[in-house]
Amino acid sequence: MQIQENISLKPYNTFGIDAMARYFASFDNADDLQELLTPSSQLTTLILGGGSNILFTQHFDGLVLKNEIKGIHEIHEDNEYVYVKAGAGENWHQFVLYCIERNWAGVENLSLIPGNVGASPMQNIGAYGTEIKDVFFALEAYHKQERKILTFSRNDCAFGYRESVFKNKYKDQFVILNVTYQLKKHPKFNTSYGAIEQELVKMEVKELSIKAISDAVINIRSSKLPDPKVIGNAGSFFKNPEIIDVHFQQLKKQFPEIVGYPLPNGNVKLAAGWLIEQCGPEMGASWKGYRKGDVGCYSKQALVLVNYGDASGEVIYNLSERILDSVKEKFNVEIEREVNII
Ligand code: FAD
Ligand code: EPU
Repeated sequence: MQIQENISLKPYNTFGIDAMARYFASFDNADDLQELLTPSSQLTTLILGGGSNILFTQHFDGLVLKNEIKGIHEIHEDNEYVYVKAGAGENWHQFVLYCIERNWAGVENLSLIPGNVGASPMQNIGAYGTEIKDVFFALEAYHKQERKILTFSRNDCAFGYRESVFKNKYKDQFVILNVTYQLKKHPKFNTSYGAIEQELVKMEVKELSIKAISDAVINIRSSKLPDPKVIGNAGSFFKNPEIIDVHFQQLKKQFPEIVGYPLPNGNVKLAAGWLIEQCGPEMGASWKGYRKGDVGCYSKQALVLVNYGDASGEVIYNLSERILDSVKEKFNVEIEREVNII
């Protein structure tokens, strides 16, 4: 455990932003974390996992703490479930593959999401019809001020669409140390979302399995999302907005092609990617595929902003502002950022 000074965060964020951290340290257990978070320190701290949902718009004049807590353990099982505890610093996709190898079901639809286990409950990661809340059992987190470890159940986390108590009420107060997932011994396949079924047919899958679903999800994701190792990005930059049905019906009259999904509460969730694709930097042009210098809006998925090289976080943020404004102007819909802005 060593505190380094003036460290470039470029290798630690998937946008590839060359921001500097005044101080930087890694920890792989709660005791070291406690030591790093000395009560006398006035430094602002930032907990970092894989850096795949963060945009640095400025240098970080505080202490960045990289969570490296490892370990995956089966802690309990009953007839239906295995309860698996994973260290916050485990890579998420490696954890998914570990579960698939053992035929523990529930996370296969979440294959290939970048980042670490510890961040998975932060925004209740979701993809292809599954969210963390569906497999979440409990987590342990360290309270920075009270200097003690607390356990959170599913209810305590107040999960919502890309939301949890850690992004709202308890923002910046806790460091997640480990997460326990409740995985099924007898899989219940979920292939209804998006293009999974189509992809399984294309793959000529004869017998459905969690491995086949994982492979299908990997194929679909690889075909439309940029690989951060090649093009800097943080996945969807914006959330899909929810609007009331009356507003949706008005929009539908004006824009018959608009993409919306009815929600159980009677509202409609709009595909922000579609809205963004219909807007652009000038009349007749679309944001989708837009590029100026090293900043752009990805050509295969308009929800994803990209850094082609040396774009600054500020320039990416400014593009996101222009996109938000253009969507508001054309559709009277407010879209929110999903990525954590630092
Ligand atoms: P980081 O970016 O390091 O951190 C994210 C936030 O959580 C920060 O505020 C950080 O301070 C905080 N944090 C991280 N770890 C801890 C901890 N242990 N304790 C307390 N706070 C912590 N997300 C989805 O939901 N669905 C997708 O389909 C999806 N697809 C993506 C595709 C691509 C190509 C990319 C680049 C990103 C995608 N994402 C997706 C976003 C991202 O992968 C997830 O949000 C992921 O959970 C972030 O993990 P991380 O470890 O990189 O978090
Ligand atoms: N669409 C367009 N143009 C685009 C992109 C999308 O018209 O450029 C429309 C299409 O009609 C498409 C629909 O939007 O059918 C939905 O697109 P997609 O299936 O790609 O999903 P998404 O709503 O854009 C969400 C998540 C992703 C997640 C996928 C799959 C959010 C903000 N994003 O994207 O999560 O992987 O569904 O479940 O909810 C992330 O959070 O970083 C992320 C990548």
